Amino acid sequence: MKQIGLYTKKVIEHFQKPHNMGKIKNPDAVGQAGNIICGDTMQLYIKVKKNKQGREIIKDASFETLGCVAAIATSSVITDLIKGKALEKALEFDKAEIVKELDGLPPVKVHCSVLAVDALYEAIYDYFKKKKKKIPEKLSKIHQRIKKEKKEIKKRYKEWEKNEEEMYKKIINEKTKK
Ligand code: FES
Repeated sequence: MKQIGLYTKKVIEHFQKPHNMGKIKNPDAVGQAGNIICGDTMQLYIKVKKNKQGREIIKDASFETLGCVAAIATSSVITDLIKGKALEKALEFDKAEIVKELDGLPPVKVHCSVLAVDALYEAIYDYFKKKKKKIPEKLSKIHQRIKKEKKEIKKRYKEWEKNEEEMYKKIINEKTKK
């Protein structure tokens, strides 16, 4: 495993050349998640198709992420890992799989991988809801938690935005006085 600074070679590669970045045309579902620790956000788009056995699989996936190096790398890698997976298998997905695929993340950056997994859960939730399918209890609980966290992030971001605006006005006022 090669290491470049704090990150592995794989993390840097995914960050510099992310796979499946951007929106999919006419996605079947979208998952939006926010990281409660830092406020970074991610959207995950999926296309779902039935395979020959009639199981619904993730045919295509892409992402848009506002976040750090680890957030971009984990977003990129999750879109690779979920393609071809049956929806019920994708629901068993865990952040450890992403971290393993990237040959590791610095311990303080492991929380960044939660963003990608949450966006995946939300995309599957969105798909089940749109298709009026029964939502598994585990997914429903995860959705409630993510919803609560998104609300909290919005609140925090609002306060931060207000502070930034006040600081900006102060700087401009001081400059015009000179
Ligand atoms: S610091 Fe926010 S996801 Fe990495």
